[in-house]
Amino acid sequence: MKFFVDTAEVADIKELNETGLLDGVTTNPSLIAKSGRDFLEVVKEICDIVDGPVSAEVAATDYDGMVAEGEHLAKIADNVVIKLPLTMDGLKACKYFTGKGIKTNVTLCFSANQALLAAKAGATYISPFIGRLDDINLDGIQLIEDIRTIYDNYGYETEILAASIRSVNHVSDSALAGADVATIPPSVIRKLAQHPLTDKGLDAFVKDWASTGQKIL
Ligand code: E4P
Repeated sequence: MKFFVDTAEVADIKELNETGLLDGVTTNPSLIAKSGRDFLEVVKEICDIVDGPVSAEVAATDYDGMVAEGEHLAKIADNVVIKLPLTMDGLKACKYFTGKGIKTNVTLCFSANQALLAAKAGATYISPFIGRLDDINLDGIQLIEDIRTIYDNYGYETEILAASIRSVNHVSDSALAGADVATIPPSVIRKLAQHPLTDKGLDAFVKDWASTGQKIL
């Protein structure tokens, strides 16, 4: 499973990239607003840090506007992925960018039918928002399972990018459901390695090793 980090905070991206665990980055207008920084400048900086795909979302909601903005964003770096909303105009723009060999991430997906349309439009990634479905008492992981089944039934190559991840369970459950990628907030990525039995076991090993009086180096 590929791991993308879901943030526009460059310091977090740098730190996580150094672990070698990061395969890409996703941003959205809310994350850019939270960072308080210039969008184009942040995307350029992220692309200079990370070799993998970096999703940058259009702000326009009409086809012509999305195409114009997407073309501008695509010029920032070779690894920019154009993020488009799951609307009829967004799907049409997706088809346009796919035809030009530019990668796309179709976002704000909340149903299997929407995911089917994104695959038909040739999306590189479909982003089902599992946390926001769970927030309204629906089943985000079930949506990932349904999309996996549909894509496998027809051999669609669109990658399932589990988005709106809120917990470590969302990560493992998305992996079990067959998502190709998870885009994860930095705080959740850091929690993935944590386990109380790991801490307890390591404490014991450190103490027992010290009691031997030996040194490896
Ligand atoms: C994905 O690309 C989105 O940017 C993100 O995962 C949305 O997450 P949220 O529902 O926590 O805002």
